[in-house]
Amino acid sequence: MAESLLIDATLSKAEKYKALLPQIEALVTGETDLIANISNLVAALRQGFGFFWVGVYFNKEGQLVLGPFQGPVACTRIPYHKGVCGASYTQQQTIVVPDVEAFPGHIACSGDSKSEIVVPVIKDGEVKLVLDIDSDKLNDFDEVDQQYLEQLMKLVASWY
Ligand code: SME
Repeated sequence: MAESLLIDATLSKAEKYKALLPQIEALVTGETDLIANISNLVAALRQGFGFFWVGVYFNKEGQLVLGPFQGPVACTRIPYHKGVCGASYTQQQTIVVPDVEAFPGHIACSGDSKSEIVVPVIKDGEVKLVLDIDSDKLNDFDEVDQQYLEQLMKLVASWY
């Protein structure tokens, strides 16, 4: 497996995703442990883009429970009906939040988080986990992030 990432900082966001996705696939090739692969996936996203916080919440025990992440310490348990993560779980779709202050019910794990994207992993009609990425900049996520992160979460769904 590749043990380091090569991402040119001068690339556009779409070009960075295009460069990163095959490297993430290479990272997980030959490894079947879900936690190990998700750990490297979130680390690769944080390293490649310098996001403030990248992590997952698993659907388990009737709520969303913190899994592998990179960034400041975070809330451990989120009810299905709470926050951006809960909205993504309930609606089974990606939620892009340009300004977290303007999102009713947003859960502020850190006051430095300004915008957010949450992408669900859906397998057989069930949300297995949500990927949550926070930025310390307003309006940092758009349809480019949505498109590539949804592609990446389809890969994660195939691990189940
Ligand atoms: N902001 C999220 C909670 C998780 S933290 O951002 C890491 C939410 O509203 O669901």
